Amino acid sequence: MKSLQIQTSYLPAELQQLLHGPLSSDMLRCHDLIHQGGGEGSDYLGWVDKPISPDFMEIELIQSTAEALRSHSEVLIVIGIGGSYLGARAAIEMLNPSLSSNVFFAGHHLSGTYLKQLIQEIGDRDVSLNVISKSGTTTEPALAFRFLRQYMLQRYGKEETKRRIVITTDLEKGALREMARREGYASFTVPSDIGGRYSVLTPVGLLPMAFAGIDINQVFQGANKSYYECSTLDLSENPAYSYAFSRQWMMQQGKQIELLVQYDPKLFYLTEWWKQLFGESEGKQGKGLFPANLSFTTDLHSMGQYIQQGPRHLFETVLFVEDPENDFEITGTGEEGDGLQYLEGKTMSFVNRMAMEGTLQAHADGGVPSIILHIAKLNAFSFGYLVYFFMKACAMSAYLLDVNPFDQPGVEAYKQNMFRLLGKLN
Ligand code: PA5
Repeated sequence: MKSLQIQTSYLPAELQQLLHGPLSSDMLRCHDLIHQGGGEGSDYLGWVDKPISPDFMEIELIQSTAEALRSHSEVLIVIGIGGSYLGARAAIEMLNPSLSSNVFFAGHHLSGTYLKQLIQEIGDRDVSLNVISKSGTTTEPALAFRFLRQYMLQRYGKEETKRRIVITTDLEKGALREMARREGYASFTVPSDIGGRYSVLTPVGLLPMAFAGIDINQVFQGANKSYYECSTLDLSENPAYSYAFSRQWMMQQGKQIELLVQYDPKLFYLTEWWKQLFGESEGKQGKGLFPANLSFTTDLHSMGQYIQQGPRHLFETVLFVEDPENDFEITGTGEEGDGLQYLEGKTMSFVNRMAMEGTLQAHADGGVPSIILHIAKLNAFSFGYLVYFFMKACAMSAYLLDVNPFDQPGVEAYKQNMFRLLGKLN
């Protein structure tokens, strides 16, 4: 099976047919804007060719830094928000072999309770910090870093703290770059031509992944394969453009909300990352689908009613893992009249698949079409494949909508009000 297989049989027949046609002139134009520039935001296309021209020296440095950190720290706290933490978190949650991990996250909200509890949770375990902020000025990570750095200084002293802090920020600008220089902290650079939500394949995502033990070379290999498959000009062969086209078509039919649904909780943070990617890239000038993420079957017991019978402004994109890492046969049914004998000998993954198929049918009958993304396995390769697939689809979708995929002017509005309320001087 391909790394990613798109199933279209739960889409309307008209759309299925269109997906077998050629790339429209509009899509060809947007393809050129992505690969050659010339569109809005073209200063931020640095992610496009990353999978075919990785910086091998930097990758080695990331690996050796992660090893050095691991040699003296059981735990890494990654401090960042939005694009500066969601990619790494998506990878770690997807690929971590156990339910808990050696990477914790901070700086993605303003809860003092959380920061205090985080320190308690870490207890005696040795710890390092990786603070990630491209601008170096974002309030949430700035406050968390301030708090955690003080904790480090008290716990380890100035010299020892120095080898336990890594800063990932802009090459020149911002308070963090200034601090890295002044204090002698190790640092990595967020490339100036890559925005936060497109930065997974830079040190922003790669250093935390490497610390967690993820094979970042495999991540790049997956992204590399995705690069080629998502660049072909044959619509039916290009998964990213098929997905972008389907979204565009749904919007034209009046759909307003896209639900990204997964049947394995390991994919929850991938859908969180996706939510930011599409929400921030498309939601502007009164345009864009509202991206919402749901966990199935969990949310079938909470949101299932709305999806089946609420307003018909939804469609679903389903992420399904074909070959889960762990599976088992159901045995011992029928005890104490549990009524589960019909499941005897079946595997958990089979039951999950039947839940998906039953749901797809019910939603199609209820007027909610679905596009299904079948993922062969959850591994570093498929993570790299998926993130590049979604980034490419997102850039295509946003250019088709005629909006800049790489800015987020609307995010400033709440910040201005918050700063005024907090008495910040300009
Ligand atoms: O996609 C984006 O650009 C944003 O989500 C940023 O990543 C987020 O706001 C954090 O910004 P910074 O890395 O400058 O702290």
